[in-house]
Amino acid sequence: MRVKKVTLTNFRNYDYASVDLQDGRNVLIGENAQGKTNFLEAIEIIALGRSTRAQQDADLIKAEADSARIEVVFESNGAEVTASFALARSDKPRTKGVERQIKINGLTIGSARSLRGRLVMVSFKSSDLNLLRGGPKFRRDWIDDILITLRPTYQETLSKYGKSVAQRNRLLKQIFEKGKASVEDQNQLKVWDEQTARIGAAIIKQRLYLLNELLPKAERHQQHISGKRELLTAEYVFRAQESRDTEDGNTAEQPRGVAAKDIIDQPEAELVQTLIRLMKERRYEEIARKQTLCGPHRDDIKFALNGADAVEFASQGQQRSLVLACKLAELERVQENLCEPPILLLDDVLAELDLNRQGLLMSQVQTETQTLITTTHVTGFKPEWVAGAHFLAVKEGSIEPTSEAASIQLT
Ligand SMILES: Nc1ncnc2c1ncn2[C@@H]1O[C@H](COP(=O)(O)OP(=O)(O)OP(=O)(O)O)[C@@H](O)[C@H]1O
Ligand SMILES: [Mg+2]
Repeated sequence: MRVKKVTLTNFRNYDYASVDLQDGRNVLIGENAQGKTNFLEAIEIIALGRSTRAQQDADLIKAEADSARIEVVFESNGAEVTASFALARSDKPRTKGVERQIKINGLTIGSARSLRGRLVMVSFKSSDLNLLRGGPKFRRDWIDDILITLRPTYQETLSKYGKSVAQRNRLLKQIFEKGKASVEDQNQLKVWDEQTARIGAAIIKQRLYLLNELLPKAERHQQHISGKRELLTAEYVFRAQESRDTEDGNTAEQPRGVAAKDIIDQPEAELVQTLIRLMKERRYEEIARKQTLCGPHRDDIKFALNGADAVEFASQGQQRSLVLACKLAELERVQENLCEPPILLLDDVLAELDLNRQGLLMSQVQTETQTLITTTHVTGFKPEWVAGAHFLAVKEGSIEPTSEAASIQLT
């Protein structure tokens, strides 16, 4: 995979910018708030079909402009692809204020989801620490995003599940408002229980399978970083099994986790039955809260170092290492799946890693990997990252090739 050219029009703080990227390492250098992350975000949108940081599409359009456009020319398995993502402010109903038009090689595609699997990237950001410190959604999104990269059809399964939960919640709300479930309501709920459990079990099964593949890799990286002092383990937590939440929102009892390898062989049909049973057990609570409380949309992953919960007991440095180990495992797994290396985006993280960790990351990156690195300074970089790199200066929404940073490094 290789991004050849990126053209931005009224995107974030860019008026117009068109830049050619090189093979190997591209270092985007600039002060804070100049547009480095915005540039990577544009590539991420073409790769993922969505921004991982914008709350809404309107945020992507330059303030006071009516429309925005990203165009990325990239090479995938030797074929050149031009993908564009255009946004226009609109007051038409059902557009949520912005209309999208997405094209691949000039042909309009109906959904941003169809972009997935074409430009494959792995990114490392400072905010990845949320993988450990953030809420369960960060961990679910991490595992789900890797699954989508490996198997783009997984996002259809996720979307069907989301719709099924939403329908089921509507029915729970209706029953709550009526104060009683009619026979018809009960029959309908049974249908939704079964459908939600069936899709939910398929999601859980795929997550467990991936986790089982990622963990030995992450464990190996953690051992390497810590000089064999830290054993990394992780469990998949079925939040459905937790005991009731207390009035003040705290959970009375910690949810139980299971090692992925221990239940990987459990037939999917058994998992479906478990979910249906849990839904029945929590029927009254679900109606009272008008919410589906059991299923993969509530699950979590719990990490531990030498058997102790990593969120509660690990030091800041250990937490950073653990997140790096997980991301390296992701990079390794994604690379295994492709015939060519994915694009690697490193937003601000390199300067934060010590030389040992930078070396470890470098040893995982295949020589032909195209890498985009953002930074405010190159001091503290391992020389290999900057040797032969292509430098781009980012300033107030403009991006231009420069040799300045290279000369700073040499002096
Ligand atoms: N829709 C928008 N219109 C205009 N400006 C925007 C828009 N969205 C974001 N910006 C601005 O873009 C600027 C650059 O943001 P970006 O996150 O790319 O900075 P950065 O170079 O990565 O900085 P840092 O080194 O601090 O991470 C910010 O000042 C932000 O206010
Ligand atoms: Mg930034």
